[in-house]
Amino acid sequence: MRKPVMAGNWKMYKTAAETTSFFEKFLPLVRDCSHCEIVICPVFVNLPAAVEAARGSNVRIGAQDLFWETEGAYTGEVSGPMIAAAGGSHVIVGHSERRQYFGETDESVLKKTRAALNAGLTPIVCVGETLEQRESGRTAGVLAAQFDKGIGPLSPEEFGRILIAYEPVWAIGTGRTASPEIAAEAHRVLREQARARFGEEAAENLRILYGGSVKPENVKGLMAQPQIDGALVGGACLKPESFASIVNF
Ligand code: 13P
Repeated sequence: MRKPVMAGNWKMYKTAAETTSFFEKFLPLVRDCSHCEIVICPVFVNLPAAVEAARGSNVRIGAQDLFWETEGAYTGEVSGPMIAAAGGSHVIVGHSERRQYFGETDESVLKKTRAALNAGLTPIVCVGETLEQRESGRTAGVLAAQFDKGIGPLSPEEFGRILIAYEPVWAIGTGRTASPEIAAEAHRVLREQARARFGEEAAENLRILYGGSVKPENVKGLMAQPQIDGALVGGACLKPESFASIVNF
């Protein structure tokens, strides 16, 4: 049985004070939750506030990106060991917004994923097709190529420690969720890639989260799909009540 992971990506929202007040309201709402792992990813500067606020709870903290070097003259960058030292346990890698606005590629995704693993972090590696790619019937091919270049070169041991998030770009922040069936089909494609490259057991153990306009109203239908092992939530994770109701689907 794959334990679900419900992760929140705060993107570029919330100050340190807002981070602390979120956790004050959120933690009591998920205190009894043991059916899934809960992860929240604030901006870098608020990692310490989030780690402090979540200490001793069932909520883990992650970053939204990392650089692949451990240290050096890389102005503005943050490394995996720095995230781990701050108390982070997870890190999002290759989010479509990073691919779209910051030049992230499958090659950088691979380097960052390895760097995260070397730092003992759990990478949440994001893949997904654009609307144009879906409408021209290229979804499976795009996912296969992203898997092939960004994930496939990992060793089996490395692969066993990652999470994948399927985030169709057309569903992110648009209110247009993939139907449970469409999401499950993409997850099936990704699991098939995993099976071909890493074998049956690795594919069965792989947890694939769905991301793209997940809300309290649609999470149940998505999570009813055996292929869907969790959610990576943007907008609907910013309010404690809303994210708690997603977590407690
Ligand atoms: P929304 O839930 O706001 O669509 O964002 C999804 C996402 O990008 C999570 O990483």
